Amino acid sequence: LQAFLTPKDLEGLRLLVSAGPTREYLDPVRYLSNPSSGRMGYAVAEAARDRGAEVVLVSGPTALPAPWGVEVVRVESALEMREAILGRYSWAQAVVMAAAVADYRPAEVSREKEPKVAAEKVLRLVPNPDILKELGENKGPRVLVGFAMETGEGMARAKEKLLRKNLDLIVLNWVNREGVGFGSLENEVVLLLRDGRVLELPRMPKRQVADRILDLVKEFWKG
Ligand code: CTP
Ligand code: CA
Repeated sequence: LQAFLTPKDLEGLRLLVSAGPTREYLDPVRYLSNPSSGRMGYAVAEAARDRGAEVVLVSGPTALPAPWGVEVVRVESALEMREAILGRYSWAQAVVMAAAVADYRPAEVSREKEPKVAAEKVLRLVPNPDILKELGENKGPRVLVGFAMETGEGMARAKEKLLRKNLDLIVLNWVNREGVGFGSLENEVVLLLRDGRVLELPRMPKRQVADRILDLVKEFWKG
């Protein structure tokens, strides 16, 4: 019903959204990951669909059902997510990178389950590619939106990421505030724009945050 009632103000927009965590396997039964639920990215995908956009959602493992009317590409690792996103990049006019991409992966992945050992174990990690930074380096006329989950000096860190990754907009959310962030239904964010605007939004459902983000995507896309 909501989809039916929503004005189709994003008709013609081809939007790529990423969501959820990535899993970096150590062996066939163990991985490193993070508590991302995928809710924020799925909310963006659903809101954009309701507003008439054509949406591809590249999703890490989540417990959420695939949204109707959206093409969902399921991935696990950061390397798989990178492939899926780069493969759609020429198609996309805007990208919202809401996925919580793991910064590192194990240097060695064993094909067999690693038996437990009595002694202390050292894990060697190697950095994953920064997908969003790569997108920023070949931005062209696209609209690029990133997320930043911060704890302390959030504003300065988010601003630095906005510039370093060549984004139009970065969505700053604090992880250590009660009732918002990972897994929650609501979010409290600050939108930092390329042109210097800083919009502090009150706490609101993720779906409403998604619509505010899409209002700005639309502004950049049209302008
Ligand atoms: N991101 C990405 N690829 C990575 C890491 C992050 O595309 N390997 C994206 C995220 O999806 C997010 C943005 O970059 O939209 C910022 O992620 P964040 O983890 O806050 O930034 P990092 O550059 O990884 O910096 P750090 O974790 O050190 O704060
Ligand atoms: Ca990171």
